[in-house]
Amino acid sequence: MNKKSDQALHEARIIGTGSYVPEKILTNYDLEKMVDTSDEWITTRTGIKERHIAADDEAVSHMSAKAAERALDAAGITAKDLDMIIIGTFTGDLPLPSTACFVQHHLGVPHIPAFDIAVACTAFVYGLAIAKQFIATGMYRNILVVGSDKLTVFTDWTDRNTCVLFGDGAGAAIVSSEGEGPVLRSFDLGAEGELTQLIHIPIGGSLTPFDENNANDKGKYIKMAGRELFKAAVQKMEETVRNTLEQENVDISEVKYIIPHQANARILHAVAKNLGFDTEKVYLNLEKYGNTSAAATPICFDEFMRNNTPSFGDKVIIVAFGGGFTYGSCLIQW
Ligand code: ACO
Repeated sequence: MNKKSDQALHEARIIGTGSYVPEKILTNYDLEKMVDTSDEWITTRTGIKERHIAADDEAVSHMSAKAAERALDAAGITAKDLDMIIIGTFTGDLPLPSTACFVQHHLGVPHIPAFDIAVACTAFVYGLAIAKQFIATGMYRNILVVGSDKLTVFTDWTDRNTCVLFGDGAGAAIVSSEGEGPVLRSFDLGAEGELTQLIHIPIGGSLTPFDENNANDKGKYIKMAGRELFKAAVQKMEETVRNTLEQENVDISEVKYIIPHQANARILHAVAKNLGFDTEKVYLNLEKYGNTSAAATPICFDEFMRNNTPSFGDKVIIVAFGGGFTYGSCLIQW
């Protein structure tokens, strides 16, 4: 038991990050042979060049555990030090039980609480916010937050509108009351349930279960209203960043980098432009991975952490949006 008894609020820090992407790469040129598209269209409309595809026997829990082990290594702690596991995914191993329970088992740490959160691509931000609450109250000391998805199983590989966008992977962070790392300061979280149709999988849940008539229906794949989603993403990402900055009384000019969900470079450049923020300081890696949903933001953050040495006082915004429609941001400070 790693519980603390005092009632003071504790700072929550990210003390280590890790990520994992599967070995197999699918390039835009490969996609040219599968659907009526081109490297030029995909690159100019999205910024994506290639994406990683998980093996048939590689589930979200496997990718999550690998990213988690790397985050634990970076944090200098072991799985035995963890008090809680939070996995963000909508493509988990099975409908029942939660993928977090599989991850707990892979990591060999029985007993500790483990659960999934379903906020699509916004999962990393929501997960960090949840972890912060348990750390702040002193209930737990070390919490693993993972975002992972295997979108390619739910991708219609004959639909050029969607199949060029997605990839598989996992990203992880250890949130802790001890150790070194940026402090999780303010969060802004939100959801718009009237926009559920923007991106959804129509078949396979309790509303429209699989049966003998729809087993081969395309409704088992991701359906997306691309243009509408684009607009909602630009509007809500800008709004949530402004809300977070306002809580901290920080001007956008004081922010060193924005680490965003990697959906489309054009979306991210539009958000930066609307905020009056230098697009060069919006961290992008979607060229290599595509949109990996819940994994995209933590993979990006892990790359940022490994390639940069922020100075004391530096402020970074993490921001995401996803199916739901959900969105959120947080400000972290070194
Ligand atoms: N290759 C070639 N042409 C294509 C392709 C393709 N892969 N996909 C669409 N087109 C065509 C369309 O058919 C259309 O042709 P038409 O004018 O003859 O009808 C034309 O390109 C323009 O289509 P638009 O949909 O207007 O293209 P747009 O510039 O909006 O780009 C895109 C489409 C990339 C999907 C963009 O809308 C987008 O990024 N939207 C947001 C997507 C997103 O964020 N999804 C995930 C969010 S949630 C999560 O992360 C799980």
